[in-house]
Amino acid sequence: MTRASRGRCTRRSDAFRDGRAVARIDLGAIERNCARLPKPLCAVVKANGYGHGSASAAEAALAGGADWLAVATAGEAAELRAAGIEAQLLVMGALTKDELAIALNADADVVVWTEEIAATAPRVHVKLDTGMGRLGTKDRDLALRLAARPNAVGLMTHFATADERGDELFDAQLSDFRRFVDDVGRDDLIVHAANSAAALRDPGSHFDMVRCGVAVYGLDPFQQDPAAHGLEPALSLQSWVASIRRLEGGEGVGYGHTWRAEEPTWLATVPIGYGDGWRRGLTNNADVLIRGRRHPTVGSVSMDNVTVALGDDTDIELGDEVVLIGRQGEERILAEEVARRLGTINYEVTTGLLARVRREPFR
Ligand SMILES: Cc1ncc(COP(=O)(O)O)c(C=O)c1O
Repeated sequence: MTRASRGRCTRRSDAFRDGRAVARIDLGAIERNCARLPKPLCAVVKANGYGHGSASAAEAALAGGADWLAVATAGEAAELRAAGIEAQLLVMGALTKDELAIALNADADVVVWTEEIAATAPRVHVKLDTGMGRLGTKDRDLALRLAARPNAVGLMTHFATADERGDELFDAQLSDFRRFVDDVGRDDLIVHAANSAAALRDPGSHFDMVRCGVAVYGLDPFQQDPAAHGLEPALSLQSWVASIRRLEGGEGVGYGHTWRAEEPTWLATVPIGYGDGWRRGLTNNADVLIRGRRHPTVGSVSMDNVTVALGDDTDIELGDEVVLIGRQGEERILAEEVARRLGTINYEVTTGLLARVRREPFR
């Protein structure tokens, strides 16, 4: 019934003095992941580098051998330039006229599928829609006309199902794109198609450059274990034990009392919640690591806190580090595990961490 080791000194890290939760970003892991990926490599650092911090992730990717950086928006390109990054930039998203001006001001190449944008931008990558059905043109004559322009510097497409091994669409898209590249018949263009899954799955999809995002961050595009591809997760998410209390058998916890203690237990409160991007769908549906051991979070995830059942006897103390994603001792929780519990993909788990979670890059 007593908490063991009461006299132990607190392990609350200095990192939490000014923050409730911190995402530590291992830039060395990003660098090593890039070094392992095929070259030439365009590292995709859109959406704040998939939640990892775009400028520092970009610098680490370049140090790991990336030659290009890709973003979705003109603003993201401008942000990289403001951070002093001089590498070749590609803006992949749809652009308004105003955004196009921002992209060009950032000296970025842009992706085109209309005459209008192709006529305005000095360096364009022509995108053929071979089956993604999102951006790019399906009109092959238009794509051939755009590709024949002197300002065309690249040809590209994007795969819809590269992460679904054994599907037929991937091969069909690849063949279709190959035919297009042959029909264009220029050997002065950079031809690129592969995202992370394609890059890892099929060397035949690499062409002149791969465009990898998720793998750069050590996340598995196939939602399994990134180690299977020699990739190291770069992001770990940590918080701390801010409060400890005793629950008697039958007592409930949190909004709606969605969990009740069957037996007496110690309960830790950890200051991270859906206001930080730790989603409410993880209610009664996640583990955390404290002192190298897994413990279940119990009760509803609230905006600012989660609660963790520690059992009837515990050595855990106020200030102990709590790992929500990452390693502690011999244990680890992958973003892929969190994604599975949420019924989503690892991309959304890291990208969904909100600005309230401080990013702390380290080497
Ligand atoms: C056009 C394009 N290329 C490449 C990527 C990188 O994909 P991944 O993160 O799966 O490697 C993305 C990301 O969604 C994209 O939109």
